[in-house]
Amino acid sequence: MENGFTKTILVTGGAGFIGSHVVRRFATRYPQYRIVCLDALTYAGNLENLRDIEALPNYAFSHTDLLDMQALQQVFATYGITDVIHLAAESHVDRSILSPLDFVYTNVIGTVNLLEAAKKAWQGSTDGRRFYHISTDEVYGALGDTGFFTETTPYDPHSPYSASKASSDHFVRAYGDTYGLPVVISNCSNNYGPYQFPEKLIPLFINNVVNGKPLPVYGDGLYTRDWLYVLDHASAIDVVFHKAPLHSTYNIGGFNEWRNIDLITLLCRLMDEKLGRAEGESKKLITYVKDRPGHDRRYAIDATKIKQDFGWTPAVTFEQGLAATIDWYLANQEWMNHITAGTYRQYYETQYANR
Ligand code: NAD
Ligand code: DAU
Repeated sequence: MENGFTKTILVTGGAGFIGSHVVRRFATRYPQYRIVCLDALTYAGNLENLRDIEALPNYAFSHTDLLDMQALQQVFATYGITDVIHLAAESHVDRSILSPLDFVYTNVIGTVNLLEAAKKAWQGSTDGRRFYHISTDEVYGALGDTGFFTETTPYDPHSPYSASKASSDHFVRAYGDTYGLPVVISNCSNNYGPYQFPEKLIPLFINNVVNGKPLPVYGDGLYTRDWLYVLDHASAIDVVFHKAPLHSTYNIGGFNEWRNIDLITLLCRLMDEKLGRAEGESKKLITYVKDRPGHDRRYAIDATKIKQDFGWTPAVTFEQGLAATIDWYLANQEWMNHITAGTYRQYYETQYANR
């Protein structure tokens, strides 16, 4: 026990989308834990995501890049880190197609740096410690019309993003097997909710509907994703962190598959209602564009293991979560404006220029 705290948890990527929900959940539910949020504040990291909790006495922020090994070791020593929840990553598939090396640096080398820093800091004893790596269902590749990804599905990544996440998963397991590092991994399906950067489908399309801009649907729009509300992912991370046996893997998802075009149609209908527009108005913005290269046809998580072992299931239905998400973005347009005014605009123009 250090400074009266029973654990000091390093949450990497805590200023990003999912990380900020994890930091908020842990800092508010567990005053006995100290939460150290480590983030390089890339384009995706935003301290505005944590403004409501930054004054809590058990919260600290470290502006550190995973690529800076010396600084990482310093963070472990300064705070006496007992546990890690590792979310920091380059996370957007389209950006990985434009700049794959950025994904190798942060997702692969950054993860190995973090593993190495934990190994060095914990070499006396790993008792009661945990290195929890947050990963994605994309490592399993693509499904046909039927079937699910289970924890034993072979890895088959197709994008530079998923290849870099697969590589990071392999390194985490290798550090568990070779050095006895107390590792745990979870692989989750597509998240949505407040504070998601507007490069991802749902916040991008909400923002474009608000501004009357085209909704760029890739390919035939019949790609399928399995959506989970981000607060449900945070609750699953809480359960896995506290209960999963060391060296185990858990898939996280809500059995909630949607074809892109069906999801977009529902989103447009809800947006018409909330913005007081005539029914069908937002749908007119749908524009079919050139497909994403290597686009995975379907993802679907089998989340039976986490339910059977710990009784975890999502608390929020998709209709509730999507409505709450739209409400949040409409009520927080200043947050969105701060992002879209910056360098994001340049990315948006490059990404959608020739589609
Ligand atoms: P995000 O892009 O919103 O946030 C990533 C955070 O990592 C940002 O705050 C960024 O500043 C930080 N970061 C990036 N490079 C860094 C570096 N070199 N050093 C330190 N910090 C750095 O991502 P997200 O959507 O919140 O995803 C978080 C994690 O969850 C990722 O590992 C991702 O692979 C995984 N995941 C995401 C989803 C999803 O649907 N978004 C689903 C499953 C798994
Ligand atoms: O499955 C988990 C993964 O989900 C996470 O690991 C990733 O970090 C996260 O970005 C997400 O990846 P996707 O590629 O599935 O998410 P994205 O929001 O980029 O796209 C969702 C679907 O919508 C996908 O089939 C591509 C399509 N799409 C996306 C954009 C941005 C469009 O049709 N048009 C768009 O403009």
